[in-house]
Amino acid sequence: MALGRSKVTVVGAGNVGATCAHWIASKELADVVLVDIVEGMAKGKALDLLESGPVMNFDISIVGSGSYEATADSDVVIITAGVPRKKDPVTGQFPSRDDLVKTNQNIVGEVTRQVAKYSPNAIIIVVSNPLDAMCHVVLNESGFPSERVIGQAGALDTARYKTFIALELGVSVRDIHGIVLGGHGDEMVPLPRHTSVAGIPVRELMSEDKLQAIIQRTRKGGGEIVNILGYSGYYAPAAGTIEMVEAIIKDQKRVIPSAVYLTGQYGYDGLYVGVPAVLGSKGVERVIEMELNDEEKAMLEVSATAVRSVVGVLGY
Ligand code: NAI
Ligand code: 2OP
Repeated sequence: MALGRSKVTVVGAGNVGATCAHWIASKELADVVLVDIVEGMAKGKALDLLESGPVMNFDISIVGSGSYEATADSDVVIITAGVPRKKDPVTGQFPSRDDLVKTNQNIVGEVTRQVAKYSPNAIIIVVSNPLDAMCHVVLNESGFPSERVIGQAGALDTARYKTFIALELGVSVRDIHGIVLGGHGDEMVPLPRHTSVAGIPVRELMSEDKLQAIIQRTRKGGGEIVNILGYSGYYAPAAGTIEMVEAIIKDQKRVIPSAVYLTGQYGYDGLYVGVPAVLGSKGVERVIEMELNDEEKAMLEVSATAVRSVVGVLGY
């Protein structure tokens, strides 16, 4: 990480990307470059956000661009570019999962090549879906070491899990501790055995039925927002992403569940899986291997199998 102010590029100035820029500005974490294939959107949102500085009391540089020159030598790059799963206006059909994977593989692949060219030392945080597969695309296309290609999923999924527990118990979210492992899909693995409220095991405070309902709600948390809003959420996804960015920029050594390329940990080799990772200025500085019981291991295997099947579509 260079001395002086850090520089973060956000690729994709849509809902998640623009909200990431917003959180970075409000926390005054770094200078920001916002890039989008729709140049006006990147430039317009960057200028609009910059103009809020005098009122919100932040002073950073925020620029928008349709090309990558301005992104040169970024410390961290967040990739949110992609297309969402939406109905074809002509046929009224949703694209097949495999078609969507291929479309986003092409977009994320092209973005990654540009990012790697201009910021060869950056740490890349992948947000585009399908998340775990897109991490493989970025790893392949960047040629970066895997500790510098990290996926955002667990930070969001864990935030949702904690939110639902706090709502159910009527206590502050600040006092909820817990973790969600696995891929960013309906098979993700919230871990109630490792969940507490100010240190009190959650199972002492809530019935098993309520806990299982929260686990299911967490697994379908992305879909819940889509059903209400008509498109996917962005405040919490961006907040999870910025939690990771802050840990890296400030070398905080935070333990944040993240999609990490495993090389034998938890019994997986050559696959991105959501696990507790120590994040600091070098990116993923360590994977923490928790002791899982047989049931938890079986759930992680189901989740990893789902990730593997999407990764298989990439053709690597
Ligand atoms: P959005 O549609 O609002 O924004 C995507 C942006 O990417 C658009 O502005 C589009 O113009 C831009 N884009 C498309 N192709 C590009 C290219 N080649 N170069 C640069 N920019 C390009 O979508 P939203 O809501 O911001 O979501 C972004 C991605 O993040 C989606 O794939 C979504 O599924 C994913 N997501 C992932 C989450 C996670 O936890 N990992 C949570 C929420 C969303
Ligand atoms: C979410 O979990 C759709 O990945 C997105 O909100």
